[in-house]
Amino acid sequence: MEIVICRTKEEASRKAADMVAALVKKNPKCVLGLATGSTPVLMYSELAKDVKAKKISFKNVRSWNLDEYYGLAPTHDQSYRYFMNANFFDRIDIKKANTHVLNGLAKDWRKECAAYEKAIKAAGGIDLQVLGIGSDGHIAFNEPGSSLASRTRLVSLTPQTIKDNARFFAKASDVPRHALSMGVGTICEAKKVVLLAFGANKADAVKAAVEGGMSQFCTASALQAHNDAWFFCDAAAAAKLKLRKFYAWRSETVLASL
Ligand code: PGA
Repeated sequence: MEIVICRTKEEASRKAADMVAALVKKNPKCVLGLATGSTPVLMYSELAKDVKAKKISFKNVRSWNLDEYYGLAPTHDQSYRYFMNANFFDRIDIKKANTHVLNGLAKDWRKECAAYEKAIKAAGGIDLQVLGIGSDGHIAFNEPGSSLASRTRLVSLTPQTIKDNARFFAKASDVPRHALSMGVGTICEAKKVVLLAFGANKADAVKAAVEGGMSQFCTASALQAHNDAWFFCDAAAAAKLKLRKFYAWRSETVLASL
């Protein structure tokens, strides 16, 4: 794991965007794994600016998103398909047909999830996976207790996640209780991982993921076994890391050598 610690989320988002943009430039046909949530929004805006400035193009990029609420139609304004269109796809030059989000209305979720995994494999696997982290250390909707070997499947949201996500819905009881989500095993197969973590309410999760033991109780900790995983944190999210000064110094050296 490389831990990049920035003063602000704006700075961290730009650095993470640079890493994504470098890949898109080098491999215009790359396969991206994408995430929703409030955290990656700034990074998506930075990438949209790069497209506008003609620095990069997503014309031949294909993408697979991490997860989708089970039971929400893609047109629902809280569905992750809707989120991706509004916050990223409609602002860049990607072909919509090349973007994939699990179908939250799939009647046969097993078939939907198996087809999703198959399609990712057929595309050659994910070159770079973007991730946020939940306050309980989850990645995608892999809540505490999810196997570190899990694959794309139907999952249940913890009361903590329902509470965290209630801010986007009229009331907490409107938050779906289930989702379709890539598994931890699926995510860890990505060739490169870019995780973003901002704010003091992520500090415990970042600490557990980076300096705790590898455990299904903090599914982000599975990334300890990934050999090209990057955490882009603001100062508040990194505040509880024991070796934060060392990580900051080391990542500067590594980033400068890329
Ligand atoms: P957030 O969600 O970016 O809205 O904080 C992150 C997550 O739950 O993965």
